Amino acid sequence: MRALTVLPGQPGSAKLEQVPEPDPRDGAVLVGTLAVGVCGTDVEIVRGGYGWAPPGKDRLILGHESLGRVLDAPAGSGVERGDLVVGIVRRPDPEPCPSCALGEWDMCRNGRYTERGIKELDGYACEHFRIEPEYVVKVDPTLERVGVLLEPTSIVAKAWEQIDRIGARAYWRPRRALITGAGPIGLLAALLAAQRDLDVHVLDLAKEGPKPDLVADLGATYHTGSLEEAIEDADVVVEATGVGQLVVDAIRHNAPSGIVCLTGVSSGGRTIEVDPAETATRFVLENDVVFGTVNANRRHYRAAAEALAQADRDWLERIITRRVPPEQWSDALEHRPDDVKTVIDFSPSRA
Ligand code: BGC
Repeated sequence: MRALTVLPGQPGSAKLEQVPEPDPRDGAVLVGTLAVGVCGTDVEIVRGGYGWAPPGKDRLILGHESLGRVLDAPAGSGVERGDLVVGIVRRPDPEPCPSCALGEWDMCRNGRYTERGIKELDGYACEHFRIEPEYVVKVDPTLERVGVLLEPTSIVAKAWEQIDRIGARAYWRPRRALITGAGPIGLLAALLAAQRDLDVHVLDLAKEGPKPDLVADLGATYHTGSLEEAIEDADVVVEATGVGQLVVDAIRHNAPSGIVCLTGVSSGGRTIEVDPAETATRFVLENDVVFGTVNANRRHYRAAAEALAQADRDWLERIITRRVPPEQWSDALEHRPDDVKTVIDFSPSRA
């Protein structure tokens, strides 16, 4: 079968190649891949800056945002032939740590977790993959065109769950949410905020392209320019860019008892001037919380599946701004100005 593979740590090593069919030991459920989404993590792996091959192998099959159709599943596995499914990304560490032991592998305490397509486990960017029944998530059959958005939605479902849990420390009736960055994570965070009936604001650099309309069609307000000009009193800020200035601005400008959730990663390299003591003082005097979040566990995938099932299908389809065939994988990794989410189309009808 064809698979998109990379030699982790080696820039320019990615290629589409023939690899053996998945080993039955990888899981009892056999899935035919329909689509694989591409994100910044994949770009970073292909650039040689992140990613680990499975033990004993040189190359890693890429892809962690999946969508496929079950080809074969044993009785009692919870799925059957024809079901539309997504694979969970992370697996618990072998120890396991107390969090992984509870199924909260997204909160792994020792960093020895593994991740499909990222860390020591082959990913989903191949024609067929095998998976353990307990890591399969069933998706509403009407989401065939957009179910590939489930993994990024699981990230924001976790973010909102954590925000709620943090908010519950005291009186908490959030009214206004600011999302920085209108990429897939930002837009999906805005979708979930709109589903919670919040007054949603989204800040991005783009003045043209699909983003302003996507935001407006959620009933949210789109801003360009600085965060301070956009809105000063957000109860919740979901930062989805990893841009240092925005992180600092989000921390400095929010409502009292505000919660700032950081979801973006960046390789750094830019310095800005901040007075840490003054920033900390603002935090203290306003009971603010800033926290980071990564990955998602089964609970978050389920919440994400529900959020997608409730969302407008056309709106979700407009987030997928490009679908490319596997042979054009390198185009998929290139960021073009009007791109939101690019997907590699592995569906057999395409082949
Ligand atoms: C994935 C997460 C993963 C993280 C770090 C992200 O792109 O969506 O599931 O935990 O990368 O490897």
